[in-house]
Amino acid sequence: MAPGGERPLRELAERDGIEIIDQRALPHRLTWGALRDAEAVADAIAQMWLRGAPLIGAAAAYGLALALRRDAGDAGLALAAARLAATRPTAVNLAWALGRVRRRVQPLPPAERAAAAWAEAGRIAEEDVATNGAIGEHGLVLLREIAARRPGRPLRVLTHCNAGWLATVGWGTATAPIYKAHAAGLPIEVWVDETRPRNQGASLTAWELARAGVPHRLVADNAGGHLMQRGEVDLVIVGCDRVAANGDVCNKIGTYLKALAARDNGVPFYVAMPLSTFDPGLPGGDATPIEERSAREVTHIAGLAEDGRIVEVALAPEGTDAANPAFDVTPARLVSGLVTERGVFAANAQALGALAGARTGEAT
Ligand code: MRU
Repeated sequence: MAPGGERPLRELAERDGIEIIDQRALPHRLTWGALRDAEAVADAIAQMWLRGAPLIGAAAAYGLALALRRDAGDAGLALAAARLAATRPTAVNLAWALGRVRRRVQPLPPAERAAAAWAEAGRIAEEDVATNGAIGEHGLVLLREIAARRPGRPLRVLTHCNAGWLATVGWGTATAPIYKAHAAGLPIEVWVDETRPRNQGASLTAWELARAGVPHRLVADNAGGHLMQRGEVDLVIVGCDRVAANGDVCNKIGTYLKALAARDNGVPFYVAMPLSTFDPGLPGGDATPIEERSAREVTHIAGLAEDGRIVEVALAPEGTDAANPAFDVTPARLVSGLVTERGVFAANAQALGALAGARTGEAT
């Protein structure tokens, strides 16, 4: 299937829940899991069966709709929204999607809320695909411009973490321009950061790109600076989990170091950003809530054993203490531009202020 048609989330046939790809088993096995109530959705988000800012937003919206089938009163609505919002703190899409569903159903009588919430969740999911498709088109223009300055060889793009279709409802954000460029015949090669500790690059981005036939090479996280010094990277493009009003960008841990290396080597550093990831209420990135995850993600690693089982093994001495901040903040001054569904914008308060009211579905 073409990348634009691949989806990691779908409604169950009877609409009694959603089905999602269980990303914990990738790249070794493609398995789907059914989530039939809000608690199951919350657990799946917290345990990272599904992840990626836009995808957890859409899934949480469906989760809220499922909760309203059991209790559509004001207290039930507030409780379910709070439970879902608490699953992962950093990506603002989660709060954005829940807020959007709440605003839609709050004025309705309880008997009408669950159906209206389900329909709104469906709209959030569909709009995400269209939004990312538009990011892809705007990003493609950018990639063509940069490629034109380097004729005679493929365009070399470095990306971090997984901001592909697995992290959204469709297309991906950072990968959308890459998929569109590949489909348009623009020669392109992708450097895929492995993205320790959970290895979203190695296990998810590499899997997606291989499935789509996009040439790519996996690199250890520490290789990026060296590749940039050697002129092996034409641009960096990453996704994001929250963008502050001043243009600071929060994304997967390690993004900041890529931006520093890019600046030092004159490599453009772009951030693909659906406007649902913009947090106009956050003045600067230093106030972003950074998720601290389990030390075990650092001290252990999961992989495929020779007998076909997915197993976890220890990397560090038993009892090693580890810190595991899951995200970092890249200051706006290091960002060459934000690739949004409305076009490419500077990462600053002025440009973002003009975009603040343009988030899809905001008026609903
Ligand atoms: O912890 P994760 O895997 O949910 O982190 C995901 C990322 O940091 C992505 O780059 C970001 O959510 C953008 S996804 C389009």
